Amino acid sequence: MIKNRMSEADMKMEKNIADTNTINADPSLPRIILFTGKGGVGKTTVAAATAIKTSRERKTLIISTDPAHSLSDSFGVELNPYPTEIKNNLFGMEVNVEYELEKHWETIKDYLTLFFQSQGIDDVVAEELAIFPGFDELASLLHLLEFYRKRSYEVIILDCAPTGETLRLLSVPEIAKWYMNRFFGIEKKLLRIVRPIAEPLIDIPLPSEEVLDKIQDLYARIGELKEILESPQTTVRIVTNPEKMVIRESERAFTYLNLFGYRVDCLIINKVLPEDSGDYFRKWVEIQRSYMKEIDERFPVPKFTLTFKSEEVVGEKLIEIADEIYNGADPTSIFSFAKPMRIEKEGEDFRLIVKAPFVEKKDIKLLKRGEELIIIAGQWKRILYLPQSLALREPVSAKFMSGELNIKFR
Ligand SMILES: Nc1ncnc2c1ncn2[C@@H]1O[C@H](COP(=O)(O)OP(=O)(O)OP(=O)(O)O)[C@@H](O)[C@H]1O
Ligand SMILES: [Mg+2]
Repeated sequence: MIKNRMSEADMKMEKNIADTNTINADPSLPRIILFTGKGGVGKTTVAAATAIKTSRERKTLIISTDPAHSLSDSFGVELNPYPTEIKNNLFGMEVNVEYELEKHWETIKDYLTLFFQSQGIDDVVAEELAIFPGFDELASLLHLLEFYRKRSYEVIILDCAPTGETLRLLSVPEIAKWYMNRFFGIEKKLLRIVRPIAEPLIDIPLPSEEVLDKIQDLYARIGELKEILESPQTTVRIVTNPEKMVIRESERAFTYLNLFGYRVDCLIINKVLPEDSGDYFRKWVEIQRSYMKEIDERFPVPKFTLTFKSEEVVGEKLIEIADEIYNGADPTSIFSFAKPMRIEKEGEDFRLIVKAPFVEKKDIKLLKRGEELIIIAGQWKRILYLPQSLALREPVSAKFMSGELNIKFR
């Protein structure tokens, strides 16, 4: 009984969030939508379906960062490492790391290889090392920047690799900056003076002007990319299934995306069994129903659902499933504008700040269970997955400020 009431209150809140926050993105700028989720949940299918739908009205590009190349299979069209027309108004490409390296990175890579070789590292290993961590992800993101700048497409959709890699992908701008600072933190001017004296004395090759120019350019592009990813034009959609392990991974992704400053604007729950799935699946239908409720309690963003189809969803069928998912809504809308949580450091303590606009302070209860924080306020309940920095601490106090619950951890 209580559970039902909670769920109703929650639904009311979801609805409110959706009502107040569904807005249209700035139409003069490209709209960027990233799809992520655990392996096999249906990211490629949902991303491809979304792209088909947006392309009816807006010129759309879908980029796959997944080396498995399932996007080609999904559309039944062979894609390339550059935009290829799939149908009217819809283009697709599959990022290929080797191709990227050859085309854009030779100079920098050559220098890094030389550098590692000078450190006594074996040729093959040096070449490998020269591809810095997250390089393939960065390559995809730089494409996004290129198309964003040129305004070549109105909608850009990214079909990402499974969650862990997407999180890596989205933290790449910072990592790349760090990496480059370490390697190339030398001022160009200084280098020009130092080179003739230093080079004969030390056994580390110094980067040439050309390399430095490229690095500087890359550095600027990474900064710009970060701005675009954090801007309201970009949102992330988590594809999930009503299944324990999948929900856990989605929670982790949701928390970290929030903390990195990205906007998750909705959740897409895929592979939901229809009520009339027959005797054989009766138990599964029940299990899924309880997980659907759990999903409702754990993700304070609007949710869309897609039922499990009786056959593979590829090609023409993608249009139907896009209509089912978005159920009349415009897929380019920003379904939730709020950043529902953030962490601030205060001396030795941390503060977790959670949006809770319809909650009253007097009836708040906090329960911490390992990596979970359960917030109960009357009929409203929210379960949060905590990042490591908070999971190891205890909540010591909580206060309310302008619709936000502010919890101190020590
Ligand atoms: N709603 C659905 N009903 C039936 N089959 C589905 C549904 N959604 C996805 N599938 C099928 O499930 C399989 C996995 O889907 P998909 O490739 O989209 O997942 P993915 O998350 O992109 O996987 P990966 O992590 O490998 O990239 C595919 O065979 C796809 O056709
Ligand atoms: Mg995929």
